Amino acid sequence: SPTPLKVAVTGAAGQIGYSLLFRLASGALGDRPIELRLLEIEPALKTLEGVVMELDDCAFPGLAGIEIGHEAEKVFEGVNLALLVGARPRGPGMERGDLLEANGAIFTAQGKALNAVAADDVRIGVTGNPANTNALIAMTNAPDIDPSRFSALTRLDHNRAISQLAAKTGASVTEIKKMTIWGNHSATQYPDLFHAEVRGQNAAEAVGDQDWLENTFIPTVAKRGAAIIDARGSSSAASAASATVDAARDWLHGSAQDDWVSMAVVSDGSYGVPEGLISSFPVTTKDGDWKIVQGLEIDDFSRGRIDASTAELAEERDAVKGLGLI
Ligand code: NAI
Repeated sequence: SPTPLKVAVTGAAGQIGYSLLFRLASGALGDRPIELRLLEIEPALKTLEGVVMELDDCAFPGLAGIEIGHEAEKVFEGVNLALLVGARPRGPGMERGDLLEANGAIFTAQGKALNAVAADDVRIGVTGNPANTNALIAMTNAPDIDPSRFSALTRLDHNRAISQLAAKTGASVTEIKKMTIWGNHSATQYPDLFHAEVRGQNAAEAVGDQDWLENTFIPTVAKRGAAIIDARGSSSAASAASATVDAARDWLHGSAQDDWVSMAVVSDGSYGVPEGLISSFPVTTKDGDWKIVQGLEIDDFSRGRIDASTAELAEERDAVKGLGLI
């Protein structure tokens, strides 16, 4: 039988972990067996042991092994895929700078550990917020890993945008292609209908309602996280786990023909996004590599939205630079 894919998940005892681990273990990444490497902080290890008991109780045929721990250098040993989900939530009285600093410490240490012990073919997906900047910190602290191996999750925003557009047009989600999220995984993100397609037709034209696009669609997608918290009393978890799986699967196995996905990856300056920022783009993926889709025309409306979100990313980068984290 093939050697298992070693998949690290951080924050494994958290909400997203509780959904993500079972998806991974039941074969969401393909037929190759997987070995789970689960990282948590020490106080959460007991909870994590309970989750492991449940994983055992599922008797998943494709789950080749589970290791847990609180030391990144041990847990990340030889991993082929690292899903960095665990992060420090904003606590009462915490300023933005405190949040960046707390997460900076986590992603500095995890970047260094991956640099030291991950497999040569490692791919690293960051879900924990602020995802783009956390990915930037991990990437900067892993100088021996090619920067293209890091990405931050905007697939949940992408999926939310597809779902909203499907509901508006009466199309099924499978009839929607070429959705793009640009920029930061934050309220400034820009979900773009000008390049998306509904049943082969340009989505903005199919909708034919700039007011809906600007004043309903974009804010609904960008503020969906807050709406989930309002309704559910806690933040999106199963949908975030599902998007984390979608992103990892497509990265490893390739995006669909005649379509693309949204991923936050290191900018090469495409579309005027400052080089070095981890910003969301339309990308195609194949055999574990991604490419930014080139040649899309960007009108003034889109230009303004992309620039606003990438300006926020540049501010976050400058703030963590100021803290000496990168
Ligand atoms: P949670 O608070 O339920 O779980 C987070 C877990 O991370 C906790 O068990 C905690 O002990 C652990 N953790 C904290 N520091 C750690 C460290 N240094 N090493 C390993 N584990 C550590 O949070 P939840 O709901 O699972 O969300 C996780 C993150 O994902 C949050 O930052 C959240 O904002 C983010 N998120 C991102 C989304 C996206 O689309 N990019 C969507 C939804 C959530």
